[in-house]
Amino acid sequence: MQKDDQEKIATILVVDDEDSLREICRDALQEEGHKVLEAENGRQAQLMLVKHPEIDLIISDLRMPQMGGLELLQYIAEKNLDIDFLVMTGFASIETAVECIKTGAADYLPKPFNISHLLVKVEKVIKNRYSRKEKKRLSNIVKMLNVSSALNAQLDLKSICYEFVSQVQRNFQPDSVALFLLEEKGSLSKSVIRGRKLREHPELFKELKNLSYKAAYDGKTYMLDNGNAGNYLNLESGNFEYSILITPLYSQLNKVGAVVLLRHEDNLFNNEDSQLLGVFAAHAATAMQNARMYGKMRDKNLDIIRSYAKAVEAKDYYTKGHSDRVAVYAMKLGSRLKLMSKELEDLYTAGVLHDIGKIGIPDHILNKPSRLTDDEFRIMQGHPQIARDILAQLWSLNDILPLVYHHHERVDGEGYPDNIGNGQIPFLAKVISVVDAFEAMTSDRAYRNALSWEQARVILLQGSGTQWDHELVAEWIDLVQETGLEKIQKDVQTSPAQIET
Ligand SMILES: [Fe+2]
Repeated sequence: MQKDDQEKIATILVVDDEDSLREICRDALQEEGHKVLEAENGRQAQLMLVKHPEIDLIISDLRMPQMGGLELLQYIAEKNLDIDFLVMTGFASIETAVECIKTGAADYLPKPFNISHLLVKVEKVIKNRYSRKEKKRLSNIVKMLNVSSALNAQLDLKSICYEFVSQVQRNFQPDSVALFLLEEKGSLSKSVIRGRKLREHPELFKELKNLSYKAAYDGKTYMLDNGNAGNYLNLESGNFEYSILITPLYSQLNKVGAVVLLRHEDNLFNNEDSQLLGVFAAHAATAMQNARMYGKMRDKNLDIIRSYAKAVEAKDYYTKGHSDRVAVYAMKLGSRLKLMSKELEDLYTAGVLHDIGKIGIPDHILNKPSRLTDDEFRIMQGHPQIARDILAQLWSLNDILPLVYHHHERVDGEGYPDNIGNGQIPFLAKVISVVDAFEAMTSDRAYRNALSWEQARVILLQGSGTQWDHELVAEWIDLVQETGLEKIQKDVQTSPAQIET
């Protein structure tokens, strides 16, 4: 069979209370290759729709016992079902025809009709249906590619969650969305919630969270409305006026969580929404799973590296706690500059590791209580290079290598190791440089006691625009003045995830 022929074939439900007319239609349609189902009235047709979601087209009489054609058409429109509708009736009037077309019927066929006339109309409707579906399919492919590339651009779990929810909002226009993630200990945690509806109805939210837990575990999708919500949700009596779509997020064998979409019932979700959301969810689940694995690996690497940082501090008593403080200060300054979360994370890591190269500097130079000779200073200046050699072994720390390597450059190009100037020094390295110097000034050193905040401020201002970036110095001074050094230092005891930025 040719592709063109396949595209003309459909599953058609003929609804009429006259047996002979149904028979004529069925024979003619079957001869054309269509699959034909029959119902005697609207009510029977409704039941057939539940059993046969593959129905493409309904050809229905208008006047029938129990439920007429217009009511059936209204039901299809209300349920947002993607089914085409052809009306036929012997009681033709322009008003009825207009009413049917307004409700969503594709065409109208006055009885008695010539069977070839019916076949021409059916062929036209089916052809339009396929071209509409093809367009929709292409637009869905574009949507999926967009979602996939938007998610792939994010590396950390939090950003992926936000991006996924934004994509869901853009493509499904829900009134509310909630994303739940399964935690390692098996519980379900709320990750993102958007829209007022769910916030304003805590009882409904609780019920939906419970069902999401089930969806996440069973890998099942739930589509709820007034007709079936009571079977799944423990709700107080009254009308359920929402359409809910709950889709699990799983990648390969990993259960990741579930997403809940809520719309008002005048815009019901349909099977197509459910399928598309399923694909979105699968992409998101894979990205989330990768981010979790990536995070775990990076944490492991970081643990190892932190132990190196501790080893440096064990060699050099006076720098005890220096790296941790630089990490926190850098994050604080970055946050004031409204940097992205990935950049803040890099600042923290680079802060912890910036002096790791000192592990290769001899103890007598590192702990010398008097000023270093020129030769000793040159050896000391090798620590960014040593740090780069160590960190280059770990691919997951690639992004912070330039930050660590360049943390002693000066904006006037007189720093080390590469003597590069303002325009070439990585921005985040300049952030580290300011807070590194400030931290060193305000803590005790082998050769001098800690300077006061005012003394440190004067030195920073003197070096602003030559040693350090002018704006960064100004922002840092403002930050310390507004927050108070003691409060900033307190955060050093806190884990990075909980630091108030
Ligand atoms: Fe350093």
